[in-house]
Amino acid sequence: MRPGGAPLALLASLLLLLLLRLLWCPADAPDSSRLLMEESREATHGTFAALRTLSNRAIPVPSTTNSTDLKEESLQLSEKCTKLHYGFKALPNQTKGYSEDDYLRIITNIQSCPWKRQAEEYENFRAKLASCCDAIQNFVVSQNNTPVGTNMTYEVESKKEIPIRQNIFHMFPESQPFVEYPYNQCAVVGNGGILNRSHCGAEIDKSDFVFRCNLPPTTGNVSKDVGSKTNLVTVNPSIITLKYGNLKEKKAVFLEDISTYGDAFLLLPAFSFRANTGTSFKVYFTLKESKARQKVLFFHPKYLKHLALFWRTKGVTAYRLSTGLMITSVAVELCENVKLYGFWPFSRTVEDTPVSHHYYDNKLPKRGFHQMPKEYSQILQLHVKGILKLQFSKCEVA
Ligand SMILES: *[C@@H]1O[C@H](CO)[C@@H](O)[C@H](O)[C@H]1NC(C)=O
Ligand SMILES: *[C@@H]1O[C@H](CO)[C@@H](O)[C@H](O)[C@H]1NC(C)=O
Ligand SMILES: *[C@@H]1O[C@H](CO)[C@@H](O)[C@H](O)[C@H]1NC(C)=O
Ligand SMILES: *[C@@H]1O[C@H](CO)[C@@H](O)[C@H](O)[C@H]1NC(C)=O
Ligand SMILES: *[C@@H]1O[C@H](CO)[C@@H](O)[C@H](O)[C@H]1NC(C)=O
Repeated sequence: MRPGGAPLALLASLLLLLLLRLLWCPADAPDSSRLLMEESREATHGTFAALRTLSNRAIPVPSTTNSTDLKEESLQLSEKCTKLHYGFKALPNQTKGYSEDDYLRIITNIQSCPWKRQAEEYENFRAKLASCCDAIQNFVVSQNNTPVGTNMTYEVESKKEIPIRQNIFHMFPESQPFVEYPYNQCAVVGNGGILNRSHCGAEIDKSDFVFRCNLPPTTGNVSKDVGSKTNLVTVNPSIITLKYGNLKEKKAVFLEDISTYGDAFLLLPAFSFRANTGTSFKVYFTLKESKARQKVLFFHPKYLKHLALFWRTKGVTAYRLSTGLMITSVAVELCENVKLYGFWPFSRTVEDTPVSHHYYDNKLPKRGFHQMPKEYSQILQLHVKGILKLQFSKCEVA
């Protein structure tokens, strides 16, 4: 699609795509009009034939009490779950032509199949991530991977550089700060409304490392659903500008809000767009001056570039990855077991209950659904392959 081609249709699809991105732990992208055009171009072709076949083949859940029947049914179930597994492996990358109903049917099927960690798949996938991206050494900027005198190239504005002089260099940790790596159990907590009344808080808090996106609330009545533990939380520079007035008069509010994250790392995309750099440094200095317990980290732009290329080979061709997929990828490298909560880009549950945008606001997305984020289909595939586990609904409370 070219600018000026069909302005109204373009505007409508841009608005829709913007809505979808907001649902999905979005990354900041000042240059969003280009981004959205890229995405809408992506969305205009292709099919998702294997998924369609799967979605028409609902898997019955065993319901009888006769043990012979039960055995037969579960045999049938495991055969179908195996097919689901292989069907997913053969999935094409395109997602067009799928309604929300189609996806909810597929997810109903996936949910009815038992989930089991597949160590071999996990190691395979982790090895691929390690060879492309190596999160352990590269995902944050450190003095180790970025010596003084480096000309740091921006992730997105890749023709722009920033020279790393002493003053900037001193903001970086000496080396990668994840001293307890590898972590056993990690939770990646998205902000989806699906977490509302999920009772997942206790389970999340039991994890060894908890990742969160964009300074979400974790105290008060939400903590029973989302937990209160945070080890790393991402910060979109736009929230600093919009919610915290660039840390001028609202600096105290900011410091109070982040105090709820204990000694977590605050992770900022300082070197993705030039417009992010000043704001990110401001967060660093604000924390330093007030002797806050939290530490600031910066995403390494080269890591993010390599990661985007990795996902591109899997068909995720969007202009920029969402923060959710970035930290999910990091978690797979840093942790032995990864569980995702609050990742739900749909307007309702499989039981047809409306789901709000975020667990902390009541805004309902419009009913109806036009484009499945490709990223979500990738994450579903990781779940089906036993590489990570997606929590689709309420948590079991012991
Ligand atoms: C269970 O089902 C099998 C085969 O359908 C039947 O032979 C058996 O009598 C049933 N048993 C009970 C306890 O209903
Ligand atoms: C960085 O860029 C400057 C100016 O373009 C150049 O003089 C310098 O040699 C470069 N440094 C490195 C390490 O490439
Ligand atoms: C949580 O508390 C806030 C006010 O403290 C209230 O507005 C909100 O509705 C409550 N949410 C739930 C799920 O109880
Ligand atoms: C789809 O993904 C495969 C790898 O899984 C890749 O080789 C292929 O180029 C992708 N196709 C498109 C159209 O992106
Ligand atoms: C959470 O769910 C309850 C009932 O299901 C609803 O009343 C409330 O508004 C929801 N809260 C948010 C933040 O969506």
